[in-house]
Amino acid sequence: MKQIIVEGNNVLSGNILIGGAKNSAVALIPAAILSDDIVKIDNVPDISDIDALNEILRYLEAEVGETDGIMEINSKNIKNKPIPEEISKKLRASYYFMSALLGRFKKVEMYFPGGCSIGARPIDQTLKAYKAMGALVEEYGNKYIITADELIGSHVYLDMPSVGATVNTMLVAVKAKGTTIIENAAKEPEIVNIATFLNNMGAKITGAGTSEIVIKGVSYLGKAYIEVIPDRIEAGTYLIAGALIGNNLRICNVIPEHIDALTLKLKEMGFKLDIGVDYVGVSAKDRIKPVRVKTLGYPGFATDLQQPLTTLLTQCDGISILEETIYENRFKNIEFLNAMGANIEKIDNRNIKINGPSHLSGCVVEATDLRAGACLVLAALKANGVTYIKEIEHVLRGYENIVEKLRAVGAKIQIEDY
Ligand code: EPU
Repeated sequence: MKQIIVEGNNVLSGNILIGGAKNSAVALIPAAILSDDIVKIDNVPDISDIDALNEILRYLEAEVGETDGIMEINSKNIKNKPIPEEISKKLRASYYFMSALLGRFKKVEMYFPGGCSIGARPIDQTLKAYKAMGALVEEYGNKYIITADELIGSHVYLDMPSVGATVNTMLVAVKAKGTTIIENAAKEPEIVNIATFLNNMGAKITGAGTSEIVIKGVSYLGKAYIEVIPDRIEAGTYLIAGALIGNNLRICNVIPEHIDALTLKLKEMGFKLDIGVDYVGVSAKDRIKPVRVKTLGYPGFATDLQQPLTTLLTQCDGISILEETIYENRFKNIEFLNAMGANIEKIDNRNIKINGPSHLSGCVVEATDLRAGACLVLAALKANGVTYIKEIEHVLRGYENIVEKLRAVGAKIQIEDY
C-alpha cells in the first residue's frame, strides 16, 4: 500500500501542466478495438486506470505500442475472449470493452464493471440500449452474456444523461445496421472527444455534445488519430489548490470553457482569476464568500469536483451548502475533513452544510475513493502540520504524477509504501 505525506501550509506558485482526460482516455482505448487498422491516441495520461485497460487490450491479443509518446493500437487480429471478473472489476470503464466487443463481434461475455464506491452505479441504461438494438442480454449473477444476430439502429431514450450509457450506445451503434438516435444523451466534453475519434475512423456521428446524438451505422472502421482532451477534473482540482494556498498558481494546457462552472463559482466566492486561451491563474485570498453548489451533468457543476471543492468551502466565511445530485454516496471524505478540523454536517446522503472558516491541522486520513483522496490532498496542502493520506492508490488511478506536479510548484509532498 502507498501513502502520501504532506507538510502543509506551503504556498504554491508557478505552472502546473494538465494531462489528458482520464474519462476520455478510458473510453478511447476500448473504442480503438472497433477499428480494423492501426489507431493512434495522443496525450494519454500516465495513470493506473490506463494500465488496467492495457491489460485488457493485451488479454484480447491486440498489438499495443508507443511511438514518441503516442499510443498505437492494432486490433486487426483481436480475439473475442470472455473478460474475467478480476480484470473487469478493476475499473468502471472496463465495460466500454463490453460494448466495443459487442459492436464488433455481436457477442460478448463479461462481468459487472468496477469503479469507485460512491453509490450503486447500475448499468440498466446500457443494457436497455443493447436490447433496443436487437441484442439478447442474459444475466447470470454478476456475469453477462450478450448476443445479437444483427445489431439494428434504434431510437434510445436515456432516463438520465448517463456518460457511460451514452458512450456505450455510440460504441454499439457505429457498426449497427441503420440509424441510432440517443435522446437525453450526456453532453460532457469527453463524449465529443470519443465521437470525434470514431468519426476519424469512418463513423457517422452527429450531435455529440448536445442531448440528441445521431449515429448512422457503417460497415468498416479504419485508421485514425485522436488527441485526448485536457483533463478538466485534474485542472479543476489544481485550480482549487491555488484558491486554497496559491500565489499566482497557473493551471496550463486547459480548455477554460470546460471548467466554466468552477471558475464562475470561484468568482462568486470573490476570487479574481487570470483566464487565458489555455490557462487559468489564481491566488489564495482572505475572507472567501460562502456559496451554494449543486452537482449536475455537464455544463453543470461536475460531481467529480464536488469533493475537492468541499475543502475550499471549509475556508469560506460562513455557511455553504453543497448538494450532490448524481451519486447517493459521495461524502466519504467528510469524516476525514472533520478529523482535520473542518465543521461539516451531513444533512442527508445528498446534502452537506459546511460551516467555515475552519483551521485545518494535519493527521492520518484515508483516501476512500479517487476524488475523496484528491479532496484530502488539498486539505493537507492547506493544513498546518503533517498529513498522512493512506490508500493513495485510489488517487493514482486518476491523477498523473501528482506528487511531482505539486512538488514542482512548492508543495512539500512525498509518496511512500507502508
Ligand atoms: N445511472 C443509472 N443507470 C445507468 C447509468 C447510470 O442509474 O445505466 C446513474 C448512476 O448510478 C449515477 C448517474 O446515473 O447515479 C450518472 O452516471 P453516469 O453513467 O453518468 O456515470 P459513469 O459513466 O459511471 C462517468 C465518470 C465518472 C463521473 C460520471 C459523471 C468514467 C469512467 N466515469 O461515470 O467519473 O463521475 O461519469 O460525470 O467516465 C471520476 O472520475 O471520479 C468518476 C467517478
